[in-house]
Amino acid sequence: NNQAKVESLLKKMTLEEKVGQMAQITLDVIGKGKGRFESDEPFGLDEKELQRVLVKYHVGSVLNTSNNRARTPQVWYNIISKIQNVAMKQTPNKIPVIYGVDEIHGATYTVGATMFPQQIGQAATFNRSLVKTSASITAYETRASSIPWNFAPLLDLGADPRFPRQWESFGEDPYLIKELGVAAVKGYEGEDGRVAHPEKVASSIKHFLGYQVSVSGKDRTPAFISDQALREYHLPPFKAAIDAGAKTIMINSGIINGVPVHANYHILTELLKEELNFKGLVVTDWGDIENLYKRDRIAKDDKEAIMIAINAGIDMSMIAYNYETFCDNLIALVKEGKVKESRIDDAVRRILWVKYELNLFEKPTTNPKDYPKFGSKEFEQAAYQTAAESITLLKNTDQILPLAKGTKILVTGPNANSMRTLNGAWTYSWQGEKVEEFAAKYNTILEALQHKAGKENVSFLPGVSYKMDGKYYDEYADKMEETIAAAKNADVIVLCLGENSYTESPGNMNDLYLSDLQTELAQRLAATDKKVILVLNEGRPRVISKFEKKMNAIVQTYLPGNFGGDALADVLYGEVNPSGKLPYTYPQFPNALFTYYHKPSESKGTTEGVYNYDSDYNPQYVFGHGLSYTTFKYDQLKLSSNTLKKGESLTITVNVSNTGKVDGKESVLLFTSDLVATLITPDVKRLRGFEKIELKAGETKTVTFKINAEDIGFINTENKLVTEAGEFTLQIADQKLNFNYIP
Ligand code: IFM
Repeated sequence: NNQAKVESLLKKMTLEEKVGQMAQITLDVIGKGKGRFESDEPFGLDEKELQRVLVKYHVGSVLNTSNNRARTPQVWYNIISKIQNVAMKQTPNKIPVIYGVDEIHGATYTVGATMFPQQIGQAATFNRSLVKTSASITAYETRASSIPWNFAPLLDLGADPRFPRQWESFGEDPYLIKELGVAAVKGYEGEDGRVAHPEKVASSIKHFLGYQVSVSGKDRTPAFISDQALREYHLPPFKAAIDAGAKTIMINSGIINGVPVHANYHILTELLKEELNFKGLVVTDWGDIENLYKRDRIAKDDKEAIMIAINAGIDMSMIAYNYETFCDNLIALVKEGKVKESRIDDAVRRILWVKYELNLFEKPTTNPKDYPKFGSKEFEQAAYQTAAESITLLKNTDQILPLAKGTKILVTGPNANSMRTLNGAWTYSWQGEKVEEFAAKYNTILEALQHKAGKENVSFLPGVSYKMDGKYYDEYADKMEETIAAAKNADVIVLCLGENSYTESPGNMNDLYLSDLQTELAQRLAATDKKVILVLNEGRPRVISKFEKKMNAIVQTYLPGNFGGDALADVLYGEVNPSGKLPYTYPQFPNALFTYYHKPSESKGTTEGVYNYDSDYNPQYVFGHGLSYTTFKYDQLKLSSNTLKKGESLTITVNVSNTGKVDGKESVLLFTSDLVATLITPDVKRLRGFEKIELKAGETKTVTFKINAEDIGFINTENKLVTEAGEFTLQIADQKLNFNYIP
């Protein structure tokens, strides 16, 4: 039905109108006042510019937010209504604008919205249902502000901790990303994908394809990825999300094998639109068509860059500012026959289809009053729950945790008293710089510990602080000597280390070790006779091997959002039994960065002349590591058969028992290894299933998995998914069994 509406509208549109639909500007362009939306002036639109953008140039989309303090749903409604009024009353075909934002861990551009842990923490929950709920609440609160399009979830392979956006991903494992990515798409768009529902938004899976694995580890720099690796590790999450109905997709700003992805016809058209049969809208990342000539120099000017990108398969350009240049050039290119009008029609069909799917023609805005659950206790509880299940206990020597209530603790470190570090970037503003002023009503780690244990039991000295007016990583020693001296008055030290907020290129860095000042603080505190509990609050695993052995307990919080401090306090005092597991390999050295599937499952021995792969792999903590306050015993691993045949499936059961004294949750992870294969890759242990269960003390549950031949296959050198005949090992915790695959 919507397809028919698209066709009939398309017939009425001029070339100018069609091209305008393909343009996306930033809100800044139509903002009023000095510094426009970058200023703190009240919201206001420049009516003249709005006319020019929408009526003269027919621009189809707007993105972004302002730094204005009063960004409530009502304020958003006012501004978007004004935009939609012009679009729907004064343009020839009354086509609504599609407004897009980056609300990647909650409706983060709206004051009072619910902030969830960032994706890396969500991944650590290994809980599909929590991820889906988080996306679903985010969709509700985003739509409450009349915004129908969210640039999330991020489905990149977060395989390199040097990369500044690893924390925006679901971690390093393709299967984990795929499963949680599908859950997120369903949360944003609804189980049935009916985004016309006023509580749903169109998702934008990003960044297609092969972002995050650049050679330098820096944002938007060249990567070299074989077709085999692209298909084996990077493609499956995107394919699954497309099959689940994702409406839009954003393109990788980087360069693969010398070709910027925005110029890659094979990736954008042959692979995405033809092979994967993606019917939705393909949007660029920020300014990436201009980058083709300004940065990459594969085009001699803007016009040639536009020709290359549109012919490669781009449907909408996130131009940000220079919309006139884009529209004028693209119109000229069509008239000169350098871009076919049929390509323009294909792009506009996709854009209009998404607008119809979102019901924007009928309902271009929503009324904030129809969203009574915005910022509600119920939503906050879901955010707290997700934070609580993400927190990962990495080490707990002599069961120092949980703490007894009367313990005198010294809380210290640059992350101890900051809402900004708990939330990370894309929170209220791009780099998260504004968090403190918006998040005053939530608890930092220090505040949460004071509430939990009583102020009389909790003292604080920073030791080291972030320079808030400096670069994102600038730090200074802040009462270092007093902090070390204060240790003697405490029973236990809670040392909160990590990173300040950052994303994209400002997050690039040169040294994966935790900073020298933080290392000094940790070493000096460890040299006192007090026990130290290290709390990590970081977007990527910063190397801690210079002092890790001296820490008595280590807890990873990732970027847990507004309720991360409360959740951590509950974990430290045993009210929550930790159940997070690492969604990445925690490296021990900056020069030893490997994903867990880099490593063959068994040592090949050290016979003279035989290279021992294991010597490469020496992480601080393995993928999937995470302790509990109770103990889990695995036994009775059983297979429905010791052979798997093509077209059939294998049922796997295992018993998991809580053998400790407290209730707990456990993510049961199923790995397989292909013992002999034509590529070494399948010989590596790979995650093929996970299920999170809850067990009361003393309780036993049977967990069931099903796998078929495709689930244990791999991409061969001809870039085909194959499952080769032979023996496989199946592993769940310490339980292992072998089976044969017979094609
Ligand atoms: O959606 C983002 C993207 O992830 C990075 N560059 C800017 C886009 C829009 O804000």
